[in-house]
Amino acid sequence: MKNLAVAGTGYVGLVTGVCMAENGHNVTCVDIDEQKVKTMRDGISPIYEVGLEELMRKNIEAGRLHFTMDYSSAYKEADAVFIGVGTPEKEDGSANLQYVETVAKQIAESVAKDCLIVIKSTVPIGTNDKIAELINKSLVNDVKVEVASNPEFLAQGSAVKDTLEAARIVIGTESEWAENLLTEIYAPFNLPIVSVNRRSAEMVKYASNDFLALKISYMNDIANLCELVGADIQDVAEGMSYDDRIGSKFLNAGIGYGGSCFPKDTSALEYLARQYGYDLRTMQATIKINSEQKLKLYEKAKQRLETFEGIKVAVLGLTFKPGTDDLREAPSLANVPLLLEQGADIYAYDPIGVDNFKQFYSEGSHGQGNITYVDSPEDALKGAAACLIFTEWGEIKAVTPNQYKDLMQTPLVFDGRNIYNVQEMADNGVEYHSIGRPVKNIN
Ligand code: UDX
Repeated sequence: MKNLAVAGTGYVGLVTGVCMAENGHNVTCVDIDEQKVKTMRDGISPIYEVGLEELMRKNIEAGRLHFTMDYSSAYKEADAVFIGVGTPEKEDGSANLQYVETVAKQIAESVAKDCLIVIKSTVPIGTNDKIAELINKSLVNDVKVEVASNPEFLAQGSAVKDTLEAARIVIGTESEWAENLLTEIYAPFNLPIVSVNRRSAEMVKYASNDFLALKISYMNDIANLCELVGADIQDVAEGMSYDDRIGSKFLNAGIGYGGSCFPKDTSALEYLARQYGYDLRTMQATIKINSEQKLKLYEKAKQRLETFEGIKVAVLGLTFKPGTDDLREAPSLANVPLLLEQGADIYAYDPIGVDNFKQFYSEGSHGQGNITYVDSPEDALKGAAACLIFTEWGEIKAVTPNQYKDLMQTPLVFDGRNIYNVQEMADNGVEYHSIGRPVKNIN
């Protein structure tokens, strides 16, 4: 059992802290937000993640998980400090390292025994080296402090499971001492460990995320071509998936990826490559395809309806994917303003994303249009002349083709997540437009 501190209680920090405590370590999570610290001490999570609060409460009760604003005492006696603060995207596409650097300095000023600083935040290649330099310059006490890279691969909505049952733990170290300590910390997880140097570990994170983003953009590119040549992207994906060199995951075409990772990490690597005078063409294409793909649903609806003026539009799903209330880079955010600008009367449903969405729009009129939030997909669909689906929530998938026909004024559905069977929708009298699949004539 080790004494660990975790800097930052966002997705990465909090989930890391809780999972470390669950594996027997004594963990103190540090955050600068007093209110947040207070509620976390009561076992209330500031983020929505399946199973997280349960584990928080269990480990708080067991005396292994603590929350504090007093970073100095937390870092002072720690065997290792995990940094999980954000690295948001700057205007030019580069990663903003301000929070990581601030925390690194605080750690250097506080540590009173040998300590390993573990950077979990996604940071550009070479950052670990820079942080190591910064820390060694700012150290107050005569102790050994080293820096290790340990990228995080969790996905929102399955963060706890992704951490406790990760496919691999990647550790990037520059000394045997650091490698051994980190291996020891992760030993109770009983997961495969890939041990490499710091720069390679930093690159594994970007290369993995960006490869997945590339895979999605590739499928979206092929989906658009499928529409032109009369093929069906779902059948194409199925045919591809039996080749285990390709695999069956992340082959779903749709209205593009959103979230806090793919958009940021594709831009960051592309930016980094440019700093080295290299054109990372795969990422340039991935980013371009994704930003165009996000508007596909709006464009299809616009082409079919010509105008949205005074038209009741049901919007189903707002978050960037199901299982999270996160709206960062969500395709809905790119489409709703266009619909409102053009006078649509929107009735929007999302099981948990509405509060966050309201930070962008309050209820009522905007531009030419109106937005009203409702509590069920059925309420959104009643009397609507068009429906746009942005997120494949279970509650939305549960709406049957027949319900669209019965509830809507005109059963016209634009589905950005390919939820329904094309033939079944047509058989139920629904005019159904999806991504990369044909539009069938209604019988
Ligand atoms: C992702 C990575 O999966 C995770 O490993 C990394 O640590 C952080 O980034 P996350 O952003 O939470 O996680 O969500 P993910 O489930 O990967 O989905 C990202 C986006 O891609 C969503 O908008 C989703 O709708 C979209 N997507 C995913 C597709 O459009 N098609 C697919 O086949 C898969």
